[in-house]
Amino acid sequence: MTAHRLVIVGTGNSVGNHLKSIEKLGDRTEIVAAVDLDAERVQAFCKENDIPNWYTSVGEMLAAEKPDLVCVVTPPATHADISIECMEAGSWVYCEKPLCSSLAEFDRIQEAQERTGQYVSTVFQWRFGSAGKHIKKLIQQGALGKPTVAVCNTLWYRTQDYYNVPWRGKYKTEFGGPTMTLGIHLTDLFLWLMDDWQDVRAIIGTLDHDIEVEDASLALVRFGSGALASIVNSSVSPRQESYLRMDFQKATLECTTLYRYSNEHWKFSTPNDEDNDALAAWNELSEDFSGTHDVQIGEILDCLEANEPPPLVGDEARRIIEFTASLYKSAKTGETVKRGDITPDDPFYYGNAGIMPEVGD
Ligand SMILES: NC(=O)c1ccc[n+]([C@@H]2O[C@H](COP(=O)([O-])OP(=O)(O)OC[C@H]3O[C@@H](n4cnc5c(N)ncnc54)[C@H](O)[C@@H]3O)[C@@H](O)[C@H]2O)c1
Repeated sequence: MTAHRLVIVGTGNSVGNHLKSIEKLGDRTEIVAAVDLDAERVQAFCKENDIPNWYTSVGEMLAAEKPDLVCVVTPPATHADISIECMEAGSWVYCEKPLCSSLAEFDRIQEAQERTGQYVSTVFQWRFGSAGKHIKKLIQQGALGKPTVAVCNTLWYRTQDYYNVPWRGKYKTEFGGPTMTLGIHLTDLFLWLMDDWQDVRAIIGTLDHDIEVEDASLALVRFGSGALASIVNSSVSPRQESYLRMDFQKATLECTTLYRYSNEHWKFSTPNDEDNDALAAWNELSEDFSGTHDVQIGEILDCLEANEPPPLVGDEARRIIEFTASLYKSAKTGETVKRGDITPDDPFYYGNAGIMPEVGD
């Protein structure tokens, strides 16, 4: 089998996650080029990692390299345009989170997918750990009983220096605070597991940073099943923790970690510690791998080879964009926002600042 031709766009702070993961895939892939607006940075990156070609323009790279898959690791405000340009040139895209600024931008990406027949899969590596996949299956099978109450906390800490990077801390370029950038991983995992969020009421605040966006958000969420949850996202929490707890009729599942999980980070409890069929189903978890980029890229390549849509496209990518837009709308209006409420006549369809675009924007 010939190796899939991969290109990395964006060789800044987070490119290492992509590089390491691609290397783990061995002969399945070949990194044929990298792109960055900063010529010195991309040249140094290619030299250090034996990548044969470098570019400062995505368009020139696409014309010359015709990649099978482009990994987009650029700042958020560039994601939609780069992804669409790649699809129009016949490439699939693996694009960093957050995929885009708004439902309006998401619908533009979706239109390009349908028009070109190519796909953008959003990077949400947390969905790809063995425990996460197993829990999804157990919930779908009803093995845990009905969900009741849940807690989803991303309590992280970021200094002002982190926000002093020009694109951070602003609605226009980062789309929001920890709700959009840090907590989006655990929130996406949680909403994917539960699937049927119905409405959200939220508050946000900027407590300890000089930024336009929030550095803390708290949300109350109701699910179609009737389950109730709270979601907290913070970049002002010195003892950092990512904590997900989901209570079901037959079991409690908890994950306590920071940036990634493997099976050991999950705790499974039954009522009064009794053996029950839910425990037996949980114990069927035999594999143990972390939710990392290589698992997601591997699945994307499987789909490319099988000519099937990859994971995390369409509704599976839209869920978190709609949820976060609804959270910001609720926080800024004081209203409870229902899934489906935000339509093109709503300023929050165009971005989390809730400002209607001017004609010509
Ligand atoms: N999945 C994760 O766990 C994870 C972790 C951290 C960051 N991220 C995401 O990765 C993305 C990049 O973050 P970062 O910290 O590496 O940013 P960064 O600012 O350190 O690097 C971005 C790079 O992209 C380049 N760039 C900007 N516009 C470009 C364009 N139009 N064409 C080509 N190159 C361009 C910049 O010159 C820079 O080198 C963000 O979306 C961030 O949210 C994801």
